[in-house]
Amino acid sequence: MKFKNGSSLRGEITVPGDKSISHRAVMFGALAYGQTNIENFLTGEDCLSTISCFRQMGVDIQLHGKQVTVVGKGFSGLQEPKTVLDVGNSGTTTRLLLGILAGSPFHACIIGDESIAKRPMDRVTIPLRKMGAQIDGREHGTFTPISIRGGNLNAIHHQSKVASAQVKSAILLAGLQANGITTVEEPYKSRDHTERMLKAFGVHIEENGCSVSIKGGQSLTATNIYVPGDISSAAFFLVAGAIVPNSQITLRNVGINPTRTGIIEVLKEMGASLTIEEKGNAFEPMADLTIETSSLVGTEISGEIIPRLIDEIPIIALLATQAEGTTVIKDAAELKVKETNRIDTVVQELKKLGANIEATDDGMIIKGKTPLKGGTTVSSHGDHRIGMMLAIASFICHESIFLENAEAINVSYPSFFEHLHLLATT
Ligand code: S3P
Repeated sequence: MKFKNGSSLRGEITVPGDKSISHRAVMFGALAYGQTNIENFLTGEDCLSTISCFRQMGVDIQLHGKQVTVVGKGFSGLQEPKTVLDVGNSGTTTRLLLGILAGSPFHACIIGDESIAKRPMDRVTIPLRKMGAQIDGREHGTFTPISIRGGNLNAIHHQSKVASAQVKSAILLAGLQANGITTVEEPYKSRDHTERMLKAFGVHIEENGCSVSIKGGQSLTATNIYVPGDISSAAFFLVAGAIVPNSQITLRNVGINPTRTGIIEVLKEMGASLTIEEKGNAFEPMADLTIETSSLVGTEISGEIIPRLIDEIPIIALLATQAEGTTVIKDAAELKVKETNRIDTVVQELKKLGANIEATDDGMIIKGKTPLKGGTTVSSHGDHRIGMMLAIASFICHESIFLENAEAINVSYPSFFEHLHLLATT
């Protein structure tokens, strides 16, 4: 994929549905009694992997454009899959599925792509074993392929070392099938889509700061879910609008759940001209966001905000190259275990374009404002968010760039290039 530099970006788009919420809507619909209707579902590869895994366990799931219907029969309605469950590139599918299967009295084997095989699964397999699931896998269940045989579960109190919604959700889903009350405590609050959506499915959950508790034995009742636009996808256009000269972009119906809006806080802190028009939604708040080309200053990003913008750090790094002064990102070692080691891939690729950026143990330091030169080949490394960040970078490069493995963006944003072309004006 080759890009021409020099265009401005103007107009409005509606980014696709939220990835985290789309996964959960299918999973919880499959676990509920009755028919769940999902609107504005994300048809990216990751969420399609979730659909295919649940179909393999006998769940009737129909997909028509962005509408999905799921006919659930409760946890006990899941059937033993006849072949391996392939999660593709999706960490959310892998970890939440393990939590669900921990209580299912049958055998299942989970495999994924090369990237999934490098991502640590012991953060869920260790607590799920403690609850009573039988789990084996490569390096004693640290990496896929992983096989699991669920059974009777006991509640646990789990103190997670990392703020991870995938870990929290996996344990809560196992907790729903356990005897007693399961509690997960995190160092900082991670995204709370599981808690919000389980409540929409009629489950009672107790939340207290960074701690969440659930009583086992509750059942889910089917409901209708509207999936808001994904703020992690919107982030690419928010940054594009702020750094590409003469731009103004409006993004419609973006989810602004406070556990996800770190990017908005950082943009404001750095001086971006951003307006937010809030809209209602039953269980997840939404807004129209408008951004304009802005004069930016560097900032420090650390601590509790990190889980609220962890997926946006690649595009924030690009933003920081166009801000006056130094931007420091720390407390973000989790970046090393995402779809790629995002400290390495962001630093390596932005350096190729001429950015002043250095990796640290738990983040990166970026000095700006630096003109990006381009005229080179860059790679997504098979990571959708690195690919989209580089595509946005091309708009401020002095010369064209060639992006290898651009197809990786289909994981979360299949219409990304279409939207980019819609907004690009010369
Ligand atoms: C997700 C949680 C985050 C995020 C991922 C989606 C989720 O991962 O990076 O893209 O849907 O729960 P962690 O839970 O590992 O932080």
